[in-house]
Amino acid sequence: MRYPPLPKELFIESRARLSKKLPPKAAVFLHANDIYPTNADGTMNFVQNSDLFYLCGVDQEETVLVLFPSALDEKMRVMLFIRETSETIAIWEGEKLTKEQASVRSGIPITSVHWLSDFEPIYRHVMCQARQAYLNSNEHARATVDIETRDRRFIHRCQREFPLHHYERLAPLMHDLRSVKSAREITVLKKAIAITEQGFHRLLHFVKPGVMEYEVEAELIHEWIRNGAQGHAFSPIIANGKNACVLHYLDNKSRCLDGSLLLLDFGARYANYNADLTRTIPVNGRYTTRQRAIYDAVLRVQRGARKLLKPGVFLKSYQEKVGLIMQEELLKLGLLKSDAVKKQDKTKPLYKKYFMHGTSHHLGLDVHDVGDISRKLEPGMVFTIEPGIYIREEGIGIRLENDVLITKSGALDLMASIPIEAEEIEALMAKKK
Ligand code: GLY
Ligand code: MN
Ligand code: MN
Repeated sequence: MRYPPLPKELFIESRARLSKKLPPKAAVFLHANDIYPTNADGTMNFVQNSDLFYLCGVDQEETVLVLFPSALDEKMRVMLFIRETSETIAIWEGEKLTKEQASVRSGIPITSVHWLSDFEPIYRHVMCQARQAYLNSNEHARATVDIETRDRRFIHRCQREFPLHHYERLAPLMHDLRSVKSAREITVLKKAIAITEQGFHRLLHFVKPGVMEYEVEAELIHEWIRNGAQGHAFSPIIANGKNACVLHYLDNKSRCLDGSLLLLDFGARYANYNADLTRTIPVNGRYTTRQRAIYDAVLRVQRGARKLLKPGVFLKSYQEKVGLIMQEELLKLGLLKSDAVKKQDKTKPLYKKYFMHGTSHHLGLDVHDVGDISRKLEPGMVFTIEPGIYIREEGIGIRLENDVLITKSGALDLMASIPIEAEEIEALMAKKK
């Protein structure tokens, strides 16, 4: 773990919020993610389960968290199970958490921190006392999970060993909680955003005609690692010219050409929290008249969208209103004709030819963070705002993405200091050459 431990109060508060949502005699079980195999004896880097991290701050494999708030024995109300280290593990993998360290990090009393080998009898005890068990699963609407996670294996085990128990889904509760960020979480997110901002300035200095997209990507990872970030929040999209019209372009293998644009969608991951930024810059430092017209249109849509994103709003109606703003801009650019727009099928608006993705998603411990999209917006939610115009026939794709915090008075731009005006970007690129 590269970052200094987060304040334990963040996790104490998260557990308290979850406990309040539970009925009497409910027990909750959460497991770490697996370390996923690749080939031969290779593995992917460990990525902690976001729900488990949110509730205890432990960034170590094989961790189990049990909440049983109505347990008679105070020591059983919250329990953490961690992997016991050994001389061999110390030699091959290095330091693992001691019980004391896990207790300090999570805010769970040391008397309730156990080695994983103690899990079996305690699990039986809790299951026999609990009226219902809340078990975790990945219920992100767009997830495709073909593998058996530790949580999934545990669900099957519980069902096999306690077939008459009543089981509940933990995921909807976690989505509810995680979609409204605490002040402490916002502080961590701001750190991820600050590192991301540094990455962008580095790129303004670096990009020039002839560089390869992957060289640009390499600049970012350098900036993340030297600043204590874990790495990319997601595979960055470094897309020159027509590549920017491929929404999930990840190859990053082309040469950046003079006179073209470079779409940069990237972010740092710090202490498991993610930033998500998109800027579109001119490779040679100057936007052409056409590029600039489209750029300014996207910027106006982003600003218009920000005004709409406030407490009480539903994401669906917000998306429809943003679509109307985009439609206006596309009419002004001559990409849509008013006759055709008047006759359009409202369920398939014509603007979608040029702006075919959603405008906003929750952001936090996951880049496309969990949250009930049918819930009204509330203070504490964090969203991206990322309109784009993609004109395949011209080989131009422009997207601008900022992260905002919903407050009582509207959307606060957490990326307000990151240059976005075309002139500012041109001036910075000129200065740094
Ligand atoms: N970078 C992924 C997204 O913007 O949603
Ligand atoms: Mn993005
Ligand atoms: Mn995004």
